[in-house]
Amino acid sequence: MTRTTWKSKFGFLMAAAGSAIGLGNIVFFPANAYRFGAGAFYLPYLIALIFLGIPIIIMELGIGRAFKKGFPSSMKEVAGFKGEMTGWFAILNSSVITMYYITILGWVLGMLIRSFSSLWTQVAVPEFGIEAGTAPIGISHFFSIISSPGTAGLVIIVWIMNIFCILKGTKTIEKIVKILVPSMWIFMIIMIIRGLTLPGGFQGLFLLFTPDMSILTSAEVWKGAFSQIFFTLSLGFGIMTTYASYLPKKSDIVNDGLSVTFMNCTFEMIAGIAIFTLLFAFSISPRASTLGMMFFVMPEGIAQFPGATVTIFGVLFFTLLLSAGLTSSMSLLETVASAIIDKFSISRKKALLIIFVVGLSGSIMFSLPHVIDPELNASGTLGLTLLDFLDHWAFGYGLLLTGFLQTIFIGWVFGADRLRTLLNENSKWTIGVWFNPLIKFLIPGIIALLLGSGIFSEFSGLYGHSSTGSIDNLHIYALVFWIFFAAGGSFLLAKMKGGTND
Ligand code: ALA
Repeated sequence: MTRTTWKSKFGFLMAAAGSAIGLGNIVFFPANAYRFGAGAFYLPYLIALIFLGIPIIIMELGIGRAFKKGFPSSMKEVAGFKGEMTGWFAILNSSVITMYYITILGWVLGMLIRSFSSLWTQVAVPEFGIEAGTAPIGISHFFSIISSPGTAGLVIIVWIMNIFCILKGTKTIEKIVKILVPSMWIFMIIMIIRGLTLPGGFQGLFLLFTPDMSILTSAEVWKGAFSQIFFTLSLGFGIMTTYASYLPKKSDIVNDGLSVTFMNCTFEMIAGIAIFTLLFAFSISPRASTLGMMFFVMPEGIAQFPGATVTIFGVLFFTLLLSAGLTSSMSLLETVASAIIDKFSISRKKALLIIFVVGLSGSIMFSLPHVIDPELNASGTLGLTLLDFLDHWAFGYGLLLTGFLQTIFIGWVFGADRLRTLLNENSKWTIGVWFNPLIKFLIPGIIALLLGSGIFSEFSGLYGHSSTGSIDNLHIYALVFWIFFAAGGSFLLAKMKGGTND
């Protein structure tokens, strides 16, 4: 099968930036920054960006352009069976994330539809014991959405939108990202201007840039910053390798990697400022929970806008979330599709059908109300959910683990020098020998330290989820499921005989 290529460099950059810019930038970053000491979070964030983010994005793009294959097949070229297994581990781990990512987008779609009218008045949700007027609007509407069977419909719509976006691979992706990504910038700039011009908005800015340095001694903060960098730059999923596999050989990978990183992190900073200023203008604390921020806190702030601007900014906010989420989820799905097509040499249509049926079932399972804990705890989180459990392992450990294995295999088995030669082809700014210790020692060392301290804390109960035995059991079940699914599944997939492309 001949591999399609991006029509233009602009199309590729928009697709890669669209993948990177997502819910991670608009919601997770401000929520994490608030949770982890506001301004102080920038220090671990910047260190993670310079020492891990930039080298890994360039490395992931480099192997994609060199081998012109999906992630598992590219990793097979790098390190044989164990490389391919790492590739499949990334695909399976990211499939779990994709399933709930699309469920969240289904909820976003529900809020967007309601934001045209009813979102700005309170509703009763008897299923969750919420009487009209007793809960903030965002909370009541969110619970009203998730307790309705219609949620499955929303999830189906978002799935169909995603499949449509990747129906013809780069051809359809490129067309859509060229519209959505520039629009996202315009929407975000409108939000930041509104935030900064609100009375009291600047106070939010001060908080964002006033560090609480005491937090820097916490291992959890560092792990949070490194996970955030992985997630926001779409690393550890195989996405950048897949998108780069559609690039022409003559592309400048170093330049492309730096451009995508710059676009993503600038957007993230702007999003942080926009959200903090908007919320502080209305004296609303961003609180810790990421989902709570998206569905409860932001609507609460927007509802206080004067007159018709409530509807305008509500629609704007949820359209921004949906567009940013869609350009990311389509990249996740394209990564899975290309992995399957490359290994089994099946048609794109067949691969998309398999992904649709399996993925949709998973997303619907995540959207079922009974997996949500109706008890909102004091910090405004959604409580302990199936989503929380799997996110804890797939997001908190899976991405970093992929990064660790990838750098070990590329640095030691494939060879750091060979990687540099490959990256420096057509690159205006060449990478020197300083890159070798980074890939071979520093990056895997830092990740091993973070994972090690995380696991130590898990089992010594330093930041366990709950003191109740039943919840702890569920937490362990999620871990066992995740290990069987991602680690066991990757072994089986790597063992399977591939098609003619493999
Ligand atoms: N990079 C994507 C995001 O930030 C996955 O949401």
